[in-house]
Amino acid sequence: MVDESYAFVVVSNRLPVDRVVDDDGTERWNQGPGGLVTALEPIMREADGAWVGWAGAPDLEHEPFDRDGIRIVPLTLSQDDIERYYEGFSNDTLWPLYHDVIAPPSYHRIWWDSYVSVNQRFANAVAGITAHGGTVWVQDYQLQLVPRMLRQLRPDLTIGFFNHIPFPAYGIFSQLPWRTQIVEGLMGADVIGFQRVADAGNFSRAVRRLLGYTTKSPYIDIPARGEHPSRRVVAKAFPISIDAQAFEQLARRPEVQARAAQIRQDLGNPTTIMLGVDRLDYTKGIGHRLKAYHELLGDGRLVAEDVMLVQVASPSRERVETYRQLRDEIELTVGRINGDFGVLGHEPVSYLHHGFPREEMAALYLAADVMLVTALRDGMNLVAKEYVAARFDDDGVLVLSEFTGASDELRQAVLINPHDIDGMKDAIVRAIEMPRPERRRRMRALRKRVRENDVAHWSREFLRTLARHSDGPSEGLGELEWTLERRPRS
Ligand code: G6P
Repeated sequence: MVDESYAFVVVSNRLPVDRVVDDDGTERWNQGPGGLVTALEPIMREADGAWVGWAGAPDLEHEPFDRDGIRIVPLTLSQDDIERYYEGFSNDTLWPLYHDVIAPPSYHRIWWDSYVSVNQRFANAVAGITAHGGTVWVQDYQLQLVPRMLRQLRPDLTIGFFNHIPFPAYGIFSQLPWRTQIVEGLMGADVIGFQRVADAGNFSRAVRRLLGYTTKSPYIDIPARGEHPSRRVVAKAFPISIDAQAFEQLARRPEVQARAAQIRQDLGNPTTIMLGVDRLDYTKGIGHRLKAYHELLGDGRLVAEDVMLVQVASPSRERVETYRQLRDEIELTVGRINGDFGVLGHEPVSYLHHGFPREEMAALYLAADVMLVTALRDGMNLVAKEYVAARFDDDGVLVLSEFTGASDELRQAVLINPHDIDGMKDAIVRAIEMPRPERRRRMRALRKRVRENDVAHWSREFLRTLARHSDGPSEGLGELEWTLERRPRS
């Protein structure tokens, strides 16, 4: 037990900061790419907040420290924990299962045991630093057992959970040998948030089937049992977003605009630049996108000299076999396209296997006439929202898969089914040829939506719901409500 306590604690697998060690051995913590920290930072600062998570490297032991007014509490994962809990159960069982089994999930009891014990360690760490009556917000699929474990350790706490990825239909979820334990784990929370209405519905159905509780959207009622009184849980959609205003400001910077012009020039000033930006993940439909593009070049509907596809594929989970195979497949396909249609000095695909700073991303978005988001399944897809936020010029066309959470909101995009290659090809040509007034009309509508439903709106809605539905007085939430009321709407 640590002799310090915090009224508001966020817990996620990864900390919002990455540890970087310079050549001379000095240590720095850089802010990670996620928007979550931007959204929560002001609230956490005012509400005396702490963030518990893994520092991203094996066996790294580090004392808690303060960063920008937030207490950062690093948790150590051993090499075994990483292989079984993180790469194994989280990313080779739950990830493919929750993304509609696009890749086959592996079920290993030894991975499950590790998932249970690491979740227990996260729960213990949080229980040890949260003030009496405080509030804890648990993030994502890696920590689904934490809400129940935490409630058992600390019944005084108010507990929220948010699932950043899809929650699958019962027919798929029921494959999981530990389906009942997962659902029970989540039901330890007071509010369970999902990206889409359909995800919340899938979860409620799983609860009905597995635990027999009564549900009446958005409520799930747990009957009294023994000394435990009855309890009401909220399961509801809260679509996540980005800090749209900050992204727009970034794109408006003169140096970012100059960089966008430079990128176009460096690419040989093609008539059309298309852009894909993804973690290198099989859920993103990068292969489907390349297939459509390859065929369009082959059909002669696109001419290699006029068009360019920039594909940023940031490295991800590289020790998981499915991800290694995907990388080989994608790089083979890129090589084929460039081999078939490249000429000296011009290749139709520019493939970049690394991440970029936010400034460079904003410049790329500005330089791209067409943004391709062709995920086969995606909880939300924040890249789509970033593209829209960056286009302060009301130009550019977003081609967006119907299988992303973002497509529920971004109805003015050119919506596609990435499995339908012919349909996707037609949509790409339509996007390229779309007249300026239509581009402008669509982009303005998209921008309005992204501006109004930004990440501050998301966290405010979630935390308000949590404040209203927690039982009894809650110290942490009292302060939070106050903080939320005082914050100007952005
Ligand atoms: C998704 C998940 C996050 C995860 C991120 C990067 O967005 O919802 O929880 O942090 O991918 O994956 P990684 O395995 O590198 O943390």
